[in-house]
Amino acid sequence: MSLRWHELPIEIVLFIVAHAARSALADNISWLTQLSLVSRAFYDIVTPVLYATLVVTGTNGTLVRAVTKETRLMAYVRKVCLAAASNSSPWQWYEVPLSNSNCFAGVDEVIFLSNRTFPSFLRPRRLDMHNIPGLNIACFDLKGPLHLFPQLTHVYLACPSMAEAHIFGLPESLHQLPRLTHLAMDMSRESLDPPTDTAFSERVRNMLSVILETTDGQLEILALRVAGKMLARWDSVVRVVAGMRDRRLRLWRDDRIGNTTSLRVQDARIGRDVWTEAKQL
Ligand SMILES: *[C@@H]1O[C@H](CO)[C@@H](O)[C@H](O)[C@H]1NC(C)=O
Ligand SMILES: *[C@@H]1O[C@H](CO)[C@@H](O)[C@H](O)[C@H]1NC(C)=O
Ligand SMILES: *[C@@H]1O[C@H](CO)[C@@H](O)[C@H](O)[C@H]1NC(C)=O
Ligand SMILES: *[C@@H]1O[C@H](CO)[C@@H](O)[C@H](O)[C@H]1NC(C)=O
Repeated sequence: MSLRWHELPIEIVLFIVAHAARSALADNISWLTQLSLVSRAFYDIVTPVLYATLVVTGTNGTLVRAVTKETRLMAYVRKVCLAAASNSSPWQWYEVPLSNSNCFAGVDEVIFLSNRTFPSFLRPRRLDMHNIPGLNIACFDLKGPLHLFPQLTHVYLACPSMAEAHIFGLPESLHQLPRLTHLAMDMSRESLDPPTDTAFSERVRNMLSVILETTDGQLEILALRVAGKMLARWDSVVRVVAGMRDRRLRLWRDDRIGNTTSLRVQDARIGRDVWTEAKQL
């Protein structure tokens, strides 16, 4: 029996359109844009999906500018994904936040794909600064910027290098985040001076213990993403985490290959992140 579309309640048809829109976010934004132009009803469904994540690259400043001036569109923006190089367009136009200081109020999450200063008009609850090309951020060097964002609940940073036994700045930084419930660290880069497996395991265990002790029951999730070169250490990480028997610990073995920048943008759009992927052992 063939499907008789006109017999479906309109809500179901619209639901299907919304579903199609969300699945096209992964790989076909231009199709999605076309879909939004089909009819007013489609536009109303597709637009919030299309604008939920605002991707800022070094070359689309003009487009981003146009969006930020549209209060109606900005109302849909929940995530800002900053891929533009440090201090390049469009974030030099200080007139944006000044002329419409509330336009970023709905932004809950900021994802950095490049090394740059934090735009002060963003006040996210979720911050992702992991894996920034060319910048081997020992994450807690971010102590300075982090204390400006006491509202953060979810923080995702690069894991400190395991080349040294000491984790500089870590407890101090955690004390600056009173609302933090979710902390994740990205292990994808091996130290320049890689420690032996035994030393590595000891240091990972020590770091996780320090974090859990410092935060004193405040953390709900402490996640590690293991990827890239660090996949060679997967077994060690699993042994450490299994041995600690702490239900707050989560692991994500991310063995996808490809352009990490594109993967992160795609993940941002479809809502895949360390919080959705990291699992208990
Ligand atoms: C996007 O969708 C259009 C229309 O269905 C199709 O022609 C095009 O090949 C798709 N592009 C990709 C990258 O899948
Ligand atoms: C900026 O460019 C990227 C990459 O081409 C694109 O994915 C994104 O949607 C653009 N942002 C806007 C607001 O058009
Ligand atoms: C990152 O940005 C800061 C401040 O803009 C700058 O001092 C530093 O040199 C940059 N680091 C890299 C690796 O580009
Ligand atoms: C990865 O993709 C981004 C945007 O899609 C592009 O600008 C960059 O050059 C790519 N990097 C590599 C190493 O191919």
